[in-house]
Amino acid sequence: MPPIDQIRSDFPILGRRIYDKYPLIYLDNAATTQKPRCVVEAMTDEYYNVNANVHRGVHFLSQQATDLHEQARETVRRFLNARTTSEIIFTRGTTESINLVASCFGQAFMREGDEVILTEMEHHSNIVSWQLLQQRRGIRLRILPITDDGSVRLDCVEALFNERTKIVSLSHVSNVLGTINPVKEVIRIAHAHGIPVLIDGAQSTPHFRIDVQDLDCDFFAFSGHKIYGPTGIGVLYGKEQWLDRLPPYMGGGEMIKTVSFEHTTFNDLPYKFEAGTPDYVASTGLARALDYVSSVTAPVPDASPSGLTAPLPDASPSGLVGLDAVEAHERDLTAYAMQRLMEIPDMHIYGPQLQIGQDGQPDVSNHDAVISFQVGNIHHLDMGTLLDRLGIAVRTGHHCAEPLMRRLGIEGTCRASFALYNTREEVDALVSAIQRIQQMF
Ligand code: ALA
Repeated sequence: MPPIDQIRSDFPILGRRIYDKYPLIYLDNAATTQKPRCVVEAMTDEYYNVNANVHRGVHFLSQQATDLHEQARETVRRFLNARTTSEIIFTRGTTESINLVASCFGQAFMREGDEVILTEMEHHSNIVSWQLLQQRRGIRLRILPITDDGSVRLDCVEALFNERTKIVSLSHVSNVLGTINPVKEVIRIAHAHGIPVLIDGAQSTPHFRIDVQDLDCDFFAFSGHKIYGPTGIGVLYGKEQWLDRLPPYMGGGEMIKTVSFEHTTFNDLPYKFEAGTPDYVASTGLARALDYVSSVTAPVPDASPSGLTAPLPDASPSGLVGLDAVEAHERDLTAYAMQRLMEIPDMHIYGPQLQIGQDGQPDVSNHDAVISFQVGNIHHLDMGTLLDRLGIAVRTGHHCAEPLMRRLGIEGTCRASFALYNTREEVDALVSAIQRIQQMF
């Protein structure tokens, strides 16, 4: 079986027919990814055979569930290359991770008039969580502008810092434009001012390798469901030196050492931030998903000058493993998709445009596997609805980034986003479907 078919067979949902007619073409991976069998089976197995609350019982099952949960934490640590599992906090997702930092960092370190630096391309979760703090504490939001093609204005970063700056919070990859932000450079500049940085990794973690020590970020957030894991679980990585200085986020069991009506003392890291029964089955699912994505060998096509005449990728194993293989496969797919989409008259792609490198090869090194587009004056909702009727799932609308839409002067886009199981044939089907829809208008 060609490697891509092997991968696809790990995802039962990809065998579905939509409207009893079309094979599912799932291009809404930036919203959520499909789940491989091994993730679902690991969770089912835990519910069937292990289920017990963690960190509480002396009995066998509780010990076993605790072991699985803590092994999952170690898997996440390894995946991010964090220094210690004390720096890995389980949350419900990226949104909760960001809210945790905004709330706790805000309480500890921000006073009226203090400032957080965000960018113009943030997801609502990295805007509204700071606005809630703004309402509580009177902090100010400073916004790093972007260029017309959706890249952050690195030349404007320095000028945003002043004595009131307390933290920088930005996305690693735009969920709308696919822009890969130069976070390492932003972190370097922020640290030169003594300011910590939170990276929203929701859209980067599924697509390329993350090393939080190499990035030197102070906080990093991501979601399980966007990286082939279950919904309802995510991670906040934080440097121990920061987490130690933050107050707890929520109160309850697990996060305490002793409680009396007069005085409560809090647990050590990471439990200080994990009030209540954690989703210990989801943590197992997440760990299995991270293992899966770290060991997969995705196919990569031979390159050709145009990128269009290359043999289909499905036949040629690349020798790359894990997220390196995923990255290579998705880069090829993104370059191919951008070239094919640009063949369509009146096609507008938002965000960084496809570059052709000196070697004549398409270069998408600044563009992740997310493509937002608009065709002529066909409303994005009409386009998305009609694509759906042809079995192709995309997302339409403002993608939880209304300020970015305003900056681009639009209300919304149609967005195709890829995962390791997508193929060039699916891109071809998307292009044909758009052409067919175009003829209807
Ligand atoms: N943040 C997710 C998206 O971009 C839901 O679709």
